[in-house]
Amino acid sequence: MKLPYAEPYRIKMVESIKKSTVAQRKKWIKEANYNLFNLKSDQVYIDLLTDSGTGAMSDKQWAEVMLGDESYAGSRSFEKLKNAVVDITGYKYFIPTHQGRAAENVLFSTLVKEGDIIPGNSHFDTTKGHIEFRKGKAVDCTIDAAFDTDLYHPFKGNIDLKKLEKVFTENPIEKIPFIVITVTCNTAGGQPVSMENIKAVSALCKQYKVAIYFDAARYAENCYFIKEREDAYKNKTIKEIAYEMFSYGDGMTMSSKKDGLVNMGGIIALKDKKVYRNATTFAIMYEGFITYGGMSGRDMGALAVGLYEALEYDYLASRVTQVQYLGEKLDEFGVPVQKPIGGHAVYLDANKFVPTIPKEEYRAQALAVELYIIAGIRGVEIGTILADRDPETRENRYPELELVRLAIPRRTYTHNHMEYIASALKTIYDSRAEAKNGYTIVWEAPIMRHFTVKLEKI
Ligand code: F0G
Repeated sequence: MKLPYAEPYRIKMVESIKKSTVAQRKKWIKEANYNLFNLKSDQVYIDLLTDSGTGAMSDKQWAEVMLGDESYAGSRSFEKLKNAVVDITGYKYFIPTHQGRAAENVLFSTLVKEGDIIPGNSHFDTTKGHIEFRKGKAVDCTIDAAFDTDLYHPFKGNIDLKKLEKVFTENPIEKIPFIVITVTCNTAGGQPVSMENIKAVSALCKQYKVAIYFDAARYAENCYFIKEREDAYKNKTIKEIAYEMFSYGDGMTMSSKKDGLVNMGGIIALKDKKVYRNATTFAIMYEGFITYGGMSGRDMGALAVGLYEALEYDYLASRVTQVQYLGEKLDEFGVPVQKPIGGHAVYLDANKFVPTIPKEEYRAQALAVELYIIAGIRGVEIGTILADRDPETRENRYPELELVRLAIPRRTYTHNHMEYIASALKTIYDSRAEAKNGYTIVWEAPIMRHFTVKLEKI
């Protein structure tokens, strides 16, 4: 008999979460102007807003917290973290930062000039933000398969080589200082990039003398998918796969809040000494001295341990299996989800779920709010509200996909929580024909409106 999957850990400490009633949640979400970011965490039962910094640390990581060396310069905790980063990535130079976007801020201050073009598979919002803030242009070279949520493709995070080469040939090459490969590709639904694609991209970039930087927030999950889905890698360890992957690039930025298994932190790791030297100036200005970069010693120690734990096969198998379990259960119920299920989240396809709500009334947001009201589950809209307005015309930009992301925090929720989420969504799906009206915006910020937008029910 094949034994069922079970977690490779047991629980040593628990945190209570609060249940509430539909009537309470209706009141709270109205007070929050139908913006899920405005809810207090105690008003949420299962929080799937993000998998960023919301996971559980292990006993070994907490033990490291007690060993933290808080010296301003040259602390033991920094050395531990540096040794881990160099060992895992093979990059010689390391700068800690307080989170992922801070790593982008420091590195891009060094590398991006006005008028530069930075292609990638699909940039995360903060990456795009840091490029556009410097008056550069971020170009997504996503493969077309990524836009069809029903189509199975093992590596929907792949870069379209033709699109990338077109960017290289149609622009002065000196305007393209580097490309970014985001592993896994958050914007495309937590979809992985294959090693075959990374190798091909690396060859193309060598030909055109363009550098490659990884956005490595969820690199360990990406390496797990390579092991599972690429035959040539099935007998390699996750650590070996990661080492090879990084060897095709010139450096990486990372939000340690994901595959670092900590609640706060960021990493810059680099091959080139000159880039490192230039980056250290910005690191000191924005983050702190180069041996702490906005992190406390105890957090650096916990991160050094977390980086290795995230590379353990059993951990990754349980992580990805839990996300897939939820996705497959929803699929069984007929609930439209993006396929294949990504590494860190399940994405509901709101265009197929609630086509009865006009897109001008923010159907993905309407679905996210309904899920909160019915079950106390907080997801996040990845649709028109997030896509924001065109900077020139100020018209809404309607993206191809209207999604609700249910991001699963690491080592945090149980199998029963997944069952609860699936049942709640089945209930909503079964009465979807009644969904007619969405929301209208009553106030919005000029940029990054999704965090603070105020909505009213139509
Ligand atoms: N890159 C990727 C791929 C990310 O997913 C994130 C954050 C960042 C960079 C920025 O890192 O938050 O530490 O500054 N993603 C979070 C999310 C916010 O919910 O997906 P950060």
